[in-house]
Amino acid sequence: MSVTVLVGTQWGDEGKGKIIDVLTRDIDMVVRFQGGNNAGHTVEIGDQKYVLHLIPSGIFRPGTVNIIGNGLVVDPISLQDEMEGLVKRGISVNGLQLSDKAHLILPYHRLMDAFKESQRAEGKKIGTTKRGIGPAYTDKADRCGIRALEMLDLAAFKERFTEYAEKYNQIFAAAGFETVDVAAEWPKLEAAAKYLQPYIKDTVLSVNMAAKAGKNILFEGAQGALLDVDHGTYPFVTSSNTTSGGACTGTGLSPRYIEEVYGVIKAYTTRVGEGPFQTELYGEEGESLRKAGNEYGATTGRPRRCGWFDAVASRYSCMVNGVNKLAITKVDVLDDLPELKICIAYEIDGKRYSEMPSDSKLLYKVTPIYETHPGWMTSTDNVCCWNDLPENARKYLQRLAELVDAEIGIVSVGPKREQTFEL
Ligand code: IMP
Repeated sequence: MSVTVLVGTQWGDEGKGKIIDVLTRDIDMVVRFQGGNNAGHTVEIGDQKYVLHLIPSGIFRPGTVNIIGNGLVVDPISLQDEMEGLVKRGISVNGLQLSDKAHLILPYHRLMDAFKESQRAEGKKIGTTKRGIGPAYTDKADRCGIRALEMLDLAAFKERFTEYAEKYNQIFAAAGFETVDVAAEWPKLEAAAKYLQPYIKDTVLSVNMAAKAGKNILFEGAQGALLDVDHGTYPFVTSSNTTSGGACTGTGLSPRYIEEVYGVIKAYTTRVGEGPFQTELYGEEGESLRKAGNEYGATTGRPRRCGWFDAVASRYSCMVNGVNKLAITKVDVLDDLPELKICIAYEIDGKRYSEMPSDSKLLYKVTPIYETHPGWMTSTDNVCCWNDLPENARKYLQRLAELVDAEIGIVSVGPKREQTFEL
């Protein structure tokens, strides 16, 4: 048996969906443990491209059980859409389970997300995905959230939804903001609840029984460590624990079972939304990386900010996650660059920092201290083993691994399943 956690080590969009799809070859169960449909995991199989938001990436492997754990916030309408979309394309969702304890994102959460962003001054905006993630987690912590199990009793669900929608509407109306049209929203929610009812399960039991039975389980993280509500670049973070510790609270499995933590890192860095980005490249340099890497959000389509690999931030992430294996993605994007930079330390107000400071305000003042590496100027698209990589690429990747203090386990040189090899 093996229980593996896979997490993003940067600001998300590291290519986790693809790596999970590769790792699920021998996996019995794939479990999402946090976040919601703010995530966008892209998986390319043959000439087909799929983008998943809530459904675990194991759904493409027949016979795999796929779990949406208690740590997620789930928009029922969006989940129904995603499931129907897969079924239409011939992918079975029979093995999907939705935790009865997962909290629901309801229409008023989405509006509140937009409302709060509109209230934040320029420079203080978070740049959320506007999916209602933060407000749904707020209600969870405030003990007034509605959980998936409440969809099993439609009359009670309608009553609770109406009660809360009306409370939220008072706030929106007082601010002259758009309100929730309860009469229009309820039929959509009712239809989604009916559709999802057969999938609502006590997934804490499912995960624990699988672990006890010696099954191979993979926990699929969404977003990245630098967006973790505790460990990320607060307040420019998401509202969940994206780091490996979240895999236990978000599923109900004890840390005792976890054997391996895979950290997915992109061979450079990207960030979507607002917040500090220490190695960001602007102008032509940033634009050419964005184009080469097709760096546009899978969920919102927003252009991603791009920059050099930040070993200070990634080392911190690997430490917090306890990463012992790295999956390095998008190496091919760097193929045409004559020279590459890695940030090995920060200079802030004339002082050198080799560790990430906790205060985001300081991160805005970083002058990165770079080391420069020669590029390889050869296509790596068809490389299928470590020894076939150009020597400069091997040196660059080895240096990344050394700097973040973890071993390379997987290298990815393109979006397709086949463009991946293990070491
Ligand atoms: P929220 O999760 O929608 O509240 O957004 C909070 C921050 O996390 C914003 O900067 C988003 O751009 C970012 N974010 C949320 N989900 C993802 C993701 O899956 N990839 C990258 N960034 C994300």
